[in-house]
Amino acid sequence: EAEQVVADLRERCATPASLLRDVASAMADEMGAGLEEEGGSRVKMLLSYVDKLPTGREEGLFYGLDLGGTNFRVLKVQLGGNKKHVVNSESREVTIPPHLMSGTSSELFGFIASELAKFVADEEENANANSLNGKKRELGFTFSFPVRQRSVASGTLVKWTKAFSIDDAVGEDVVAELQTAMSKQGLDMHVAALINDAVGTLAGARYYDEDVVAGVIFGTGTNAAYVERANAIPKWEGELPNSGDMVINMEWGNFYSSQLPVTEYDQELDKESLNPGEQIYEKLTSGMYLGEIVRRVLLKLSLQSGIFGDIDDSKLKAHFHLRTPHISAMHHDETPDLNIVAEKLHQILQITNTSLETRKMVVKICDIVARRAARLAAAGVAGILMKLGRNGCANTQRSVIAIDGGLFEHYTKFRECLESTLGELLGDEASKSVAVKHANDGSGIGAALIAASQSQ
Ligand code: BG6
Ligand code: GLC
Repeated sequence: EAEQVVADLRERCATPASLLRDVASAMADEMGAGLEEEGGSRVKMLLSYVDKLPTGREEGLFYGLDLGGTNFRVLKVQLGGNKKHVVNSESREVTIPPHLMSGTSSELFGFIASELAKFVADEEENANANSLNGKKRELGFTFSFPVRQRSVASGTLVKWTKAFSIDDAVGEDVVAELQTAMSKQGLDMHVAALINDAVGTLAGARYYDEDVVAGVIFGTGTNAAYVERANAIPKWEGELPNSGDMVINMEWGNFYSSQLPVTEYDQELDKESLNPGEQIYEKLTSGMYLGEIVRRVLLKLSLQSGIFGDIDDSKLKAHFHLRTPHISAMHHDETPDLNIVAEKLHQILQITNTSLETRKMVVKICDIVARRAARLAAAGVAGILMKLGRNGCANTQRSVIAIDGGLFEHYTKFRECLESTLGELLGDEASKSVAVKHANDGSGIGAALIAASQSQ
């Protein structure tokens, strides 16, 4: 019976290349529809107001705030100007107290402004006095949620995603909220740019490599940003920028297509989530959810076929208790007896005395869930290349996709499967001109670079 549950899961999660090609073209179609008009697609295709990407000539001292990934970060970046390298960068990671993710806007912004103020005070104490040269401090704010922008340094929150849910912030200008919180801390700083992490990843990677066409995140959540021709954005009413380009924050986490292989576990996860009916592609492909999907399958196996014996299942029943780093550790277990699997099941879920056969079954489940995620992720990337006309064998222009986020960085099998699936979808010839690159911590540097190009 347990075998049947796993066999059903495998069947429901199947992602043959034909299905992935349909998903990729649906993604490309939704991109077009989202550019056509406001509300034209679930994929919002938000204008970032970033109309030029870093050139390498940026210089000066910039602070950065990075909110929305696993950790909240504050950073300081010294750009060298015409050097194509960041002279110096310092950063500090802070865990956001979970209660702040569902409290009030002023509590959240108060907390991040106070952490920033502490960091600035510590840095300035250590730094040589001339680093600011009497100028106002400039900040690049990476805010990794959907924001509707009217300029590069302002934007109202459309909705929260991932584990955040602070009602009174929705519809508010997040830069104004941050400015108010900074003033309360007596921190004199100007927000020069508000960007999404996918936009920051694109900008950070483009600084080093001109062929970077898109920045993609596979972390707690998932998203992508790419450079679009301004005249291919019918919904844009403003004046066209000199560069003729505009970076689009796709918010592809909200993509949906009837082709997506959604199981009963995904449906229940969605129903019980903070944002039911939304971010369906994100719920299939990103780090916040993969562990939770596996937990739901294991719980079913336990309740229906009792494969774990008579256990205290309180941990197994706790939402989000099994996290993606845990399933990654189990999935990569190469010990002959699957000792790591045994250890995780015990430590995290209080499941003891499993047989080798049961542990193998757990690995199989991790594999099914992670492989589906990685293959759908590859289809998303293929969709962007399709929209750009860079997916065919006639195309010889080099295209680099810069990817960041904890899932891509740490879950090796996810990353390998994403890369090989992209190759499978593009074919040998087209694959030659497409490269996937890990853009480590691009978005912090990217925010500083965009802040620099705006303020100079
Ligand atoms: C980081 C970026 O490298 O990746 C963040 O600098 C981004 O801005 C993050 O949010 C996403 O990863 P995760 O895994 O922390 O959600
Ligand atoms: C979520 C957010 C999006 C962000 C992504 C990755 O999808 O809505 O803005 O880029 O997570 O952090």
